[in-house]
Amino acid sequence: MLNEKLHSYIEGLIPERHSLLMEMEGYANEHHVPIMELAGMEAMLQMLRIHGAKNILEVGTAIGYSALRMAFALPDSNIITIERDEERIQLALEFIARSDYHENIFLIEGDALDVEERVRGHAPYDAIFIDAAKGQYQKFFEIYSKYLKADGLIITDNVLFKGLVAESDIESKRTRNLVKKIDEFNRWLMNHKDFDTVILPVGDGVAISKRRGE
Ligand SMILES: C[S@@+](CC[C@H](N)C(=O)[O-])C[C@H]1O[C@@H](n2cnc3c(N)ncnc32)[C@H](O)[C@@H]1O
Repeated sequence: MLNEKLHSYIEGLIPERHSLLMEMEGYANEHHVPIMELAGMEAMLQMLRIHGAKNILEVGTAIGYSALRMAFALPDSNIITIERDEERIQLALEFIARSDYHENIFLIEGDALDVEERVRGHAPYDAIFIDAAKGQYQKFFEIYSKYLKADGLIITDNVLFKGLVAESDIESKRTRNLVKKIDEFNRWLMNHKDFDTVILPVGDGVAISKRRGE
């Protein structure tokens, strides 16, 4: 989103992560698992620290990288995380088991559109992180914002989708449709009567939505 030089400069300033996290970054890179970009991650973690989030819901675990980043940054928190891909679930469970945070992270296996009852069992949440199928963002938001505390935060990744949301000429029909959905989500979110939202142009674009409260 920023120019390449600045982007590399900021990434270069971010301190090395714990060896387990670095191993996961290497795995994700090698096996093309889409994990949150470093600068976007730092922005999200800082929001969660400032908010003092203790009970966090994540939609889209992948191999457990962001769940573990949240646990390392907020060691007193609990993270409930949802994933539907069987292979990624197994990897996430293995990585989480190797950390000191296996008691803080609870993985719900299944499609986020079908596991509402199980998610409800751990509510209310101080914060929700949405990072799963981009075409379904509004549905995830609508289903799970019901279980957010009155002053809670919802953080959504990939809302600028490699800058494509600002492009008018996209060749691939599939990409064009996905970009249209993200754009519609962004417009819906920015005009949501119960939330104030800012879109930060870090990483792949991170939306921070704060519920207005009672
Ligand atoms: C971008 S990755 C998550 C990355 C992870 N948050 C991180 O930064 O380490 C998105 C994940 O969401 C999962 N996913 C997509 N749609 C889902 C759904 N409807 N229910 C559950 N998981 C879903 C995918 O299988 C994928 O592993």
